[in-house]
Amino acid sequence: MTLRLGDVAPNFTAETSEGKIDFYEYLGDGWGILFSHPADYTPVCTTELGTVAKLKNEFAKRNTKVMALSVDGLESHKGWISDINETQQTEVNFPIIADEDRKIANLYDMIHPNSNENFTVRSVFVIGSDKKIKLIITYPASTGRNFDELLRVIDSLQLTANYSVATPANWKHGEDVVIAPAIKTEDIPGKFPKGHKVIKPYLRTTPQPDL
Ligand code: BEZ
Repeated sequence: MTLRLGDVAPNFTAETSEGKIDFYEYLGDGWGILFSHPADYTPVCTTELGTVAKLKNEFAKRNTKVMALSVDGLESHKGWISDINETQQTEVNFPIIADEDRKIANLYDMIHPNSNENFTVRSVFVIGSDKKIKLIITYPASTGRNFDELLRVIDSLQLTANYSVATPANWKHGEDVVIAPAIKTEDIPGKFPKGHKVIKPYLRTTPQPDL
């Protein structure tokens, strides 16, 4: 199944390291990240899952719940979680799906056979509170993900969901944003009272409106 931005993220129930979970129930009314990794007991994945565990408060601030997936089984996950906790000095605090039959990996198109027939690639899906897919990123097995970048994108997605703005290249929370082209220049002061700059008629900036 090919999933694209704007599609509804398919629901599923899965056996996870925290018991059987219905994905939609787990997400509730908040945002979610579903991310796959190639296999348990591998070095890059160990650092990734440790990093995500340490970012728990950052995800919570953004009302975002995290769920990981690999095609290894529950017993394997349990032993590996001990290793992650030990080596990354943290406690894994989110569920890891044991997708041995690849039901969810196939549902989310996480196996790319020309890369590897047997394992999931490093897929990331960010899912909005409306259960629609807001971001899809795919990394190869050999490259660990940058989870600070994921937090940055969630900041952008949540901001632009509520205001008629977009975020420019390399934008970070707190920096100026660009005003959506649909807003007429004469309407800007009413909508963005903190001020604005017109650099070109199509390139107008304003301070981040929700601060
Ligand atoms: C890793 O997570 O370390 C890894 C997994 C598959 C291939 C290469 C590295």
